[in-house]
Amino acid sequence: MDAKSRIEFLRNELEKHNYNYYVLSAPEISDYEFDQLMKELQKLEEENPQYFDENSPTQRVGNDISKEFEQVFHKYPMLSLGNTYSEGEISDFYNRVKKQLNEDFEIVCELKFDGTSISLTYEDGRLIQAVTRGDGEKGDDVTANVKTIRSIPLVLKNGDFPQEFEIRGEILMPWKVFEQLNKEREEQEEPLFANPRNAASGTLKLQNSKEVAKRKLDSYLYFLLGDNLSAETHWDALDNAKSWGFKISDSRKLCHSLQEIFDFIKYWDVERKNLPVATDGIVLKVNSLRQQKQLGLTAKSPRWAIAYKFQAERACTRLKEVTYQVGRTGAITPVANFDAVQLAGTQVKRASLHNADIIEQLDLHIGDMVYVEKGGEIIPKIVGVNKDERSLFEMEKVCFITNCPECGDELVRYEGEAAHYCPNEDGCPPQQKGKIEHFVGRKAMNINMGEETVDLLFSKGIIKDIADLYLLKESDLRSLERWGDKSAKNLVKSIEESKKTPFEKVLFALGIRYVGETVAKKLAQTFKNIDALREANFEQLTSTDEIGDVIAQSVIDYFKKEKNVQLIERLKSYGVNFELSAQIEKQGDILSGKTIVISGTFEWFSREELKQMIELNGGKNGSSVSAKTDFLLAGKNIGPSKLEKAKSLNINFLTEEEFLGMINVEIPQTPKEPENGEYVLF
Ligand code: IVH
Repeated sequence: MDAKSRIEFLRNELEKHNYNYYVLSAPEISDYEFDQLMKELQKLEEENPQYFDENSPTQRVGNDISKEFEQVFHKYPMLSLGNTYSEGEISDFYNRVKKQLNEDFEIVCELKFDGTSISLTYEDGRLIQAVTRGDGEKGDDVTANVKTIRSIPLVLKNGDFPQEFEIRGEILMPWKVFEQLNKEREEQEEPLFANPRNAASGTLKLQNSKEVAKRKLDSYLYFLLGDNLSAETHWDALDNAKSWGFKISDSRKLCHSLQEIFDFIKYWDVERKNLPVATDGIVLKVNSLRQQKQLGLTAKSPRWAIAYKFQAERACTRLKEVTYQVGRTGAITPVANFDAVQLAGTQVKRASLHNADIIEQLDLHIGDMVYVEKGGEIIPKIVGVNKDERSLFEMEKVCFITNCPECGDELVRYEGEAAHYCPNEDGCPPQQKGKIEHFVGRKAMNINMGEETVDLLFSKGIIKDIADLYLLKESDLRSLERWGDKSAKNLVKSIEESKKTPFEKVLFALGIRYVGETVAKKLAQTFKNIDALREANFEQLTSTDEIGDVIAQSVIDYFKKEKNVQLIERLKSYGVNFELSAQIEKQGDILSGKTIVISGTFEWFSREELKQMIELNGGKNGSSVSAKTDFLLAGKNIGPSKLEKAKSLNINFLTEEEFLGMINVEIPQTPKEPENGEYVLF
């Protein structure tokens, strides 16, 4: 088989297995076998760039091109549906339709998926555009991000689809992915997503499609539009779409009476709790497309469809007190404590009140009868107060605290922020402990030490700050309750190993405000060691890619504090690494006068590291291929436009290995860790 046919074969196979796995949930091959096929295809595509296809399964990994979204007008406006909340309102809809049609009709009942809506355009069976709802008239072109969603076909199966059509549906974040994402965000003290809907729409608007690929979004499609759909009913149109490879829900029913509709609602109001994705109601649609046309549209929504929204579970209970939690960064979270109530199958007695503004909006008083809801949200929230049950003159208004509940320091509120903070970073126990927990975390120094151990060592006064970790001896630990020789040895070993942690992770581990993983990487690559970073002024910081005023000021403020500088000096003296790795530091002028453009993903070094190596060896990084480009450093999944242009301009291609050879950098013993969204093989 020649390369071209093999590539075609592999693309079809991989797309088939994608479909089996992500649409049918019935994989036929193991993940390992899938990865083998993917690896083979990636290699063949790399060797035969002339067969590049933007809809190849290899393109689902996303890229790190960051861009604002282009606004696109919808060919057909994206209407919304009228909402109903009771059986009575559904009867009204049913009777209206009956009267207007004056003939028999059927109603398709479907689940109302609670995600973010999307409109997909296909031409000749290939996905060409994905646009968000926006204002209904025009939305954002999020094609690159949508292509990373495995249940959305890039190329359709079977040949009987219209030459051009649109299909609409919902992009969803499954509960499991949502919970994991929020867990990670909590660890990083990033704001949590309130529900999977917000998480899905937030993800779809990310600038980096690699990051989107990592978030594992899913989809359900439910509405076809086009001139030659061949179906006469909505039901058949969905069946057709299913046969072309779209993920269409089987939880739909063709109903012939109001009773059947009510039964469907009753069944799914309970059963939906077992679904992997969020739903917030039922959608009723007249089945016949001819009858839909006859019924027509109003300005905002069709007359042939309506939504029924499930009741969010709500309870009324008495507010006992508001307590306040202090996080690692000193952010204060007010928590409502109320008499325990049953809600959505669990007992709840607490709900986050988020910030002072929310307390003010609710005009909360201790003793208030409050409404607690658990809808699409995981965390219950207080949605209102039953003011009839109030006798205000006897009740105390909830006033946000002015001093830290842990250390007593006066709280501050930074301009433009909703949260209050305790500024006593070094003397407030939860902040001190939180800093140590953050420092030892998996994405930071990766020291094998849980929250409980930090708590224990801190409360016993054995460690007071992150530098104290490096003074820990096995004997300190062995004397603690339930600590054996082995666990003491392991922890000390893990702390010792952490001294070799790469500089960017150490920088992240310090917990400087606004310096997350990505920012730490950028700063490490730009300033190379902690002393240079400490000496950097505002202009130098802000002229770094992706570092804005707020981050720059935060870094400056951090180093202004003598305590922080001393802490770093102590860490340094214990052997913690505060420099970028030597391999990346190697310098020379071998590339002097050469402009190199990087494209694709690489095995041994990240793009950022490679870019740096180019500069450190006297070369220039080009952003786009032009006649001035000397080399194209080509990785996997290379950008198609760069590839074509480079070929037409006869520019020399370099593999990563050839490039490393040129600048005398040894190939590391192990490949780099895959970056966000990159294909993880094995
Ligand atoms: S049909 C013209 N079907 O609910 C009719 N919508 O306001 C187009 N939704 O914006 C919508 N599940 O995002 C339809 N099975 C379903 C749905 C559904 C969820 C969303 C959709 C729409 C909103 C209704």
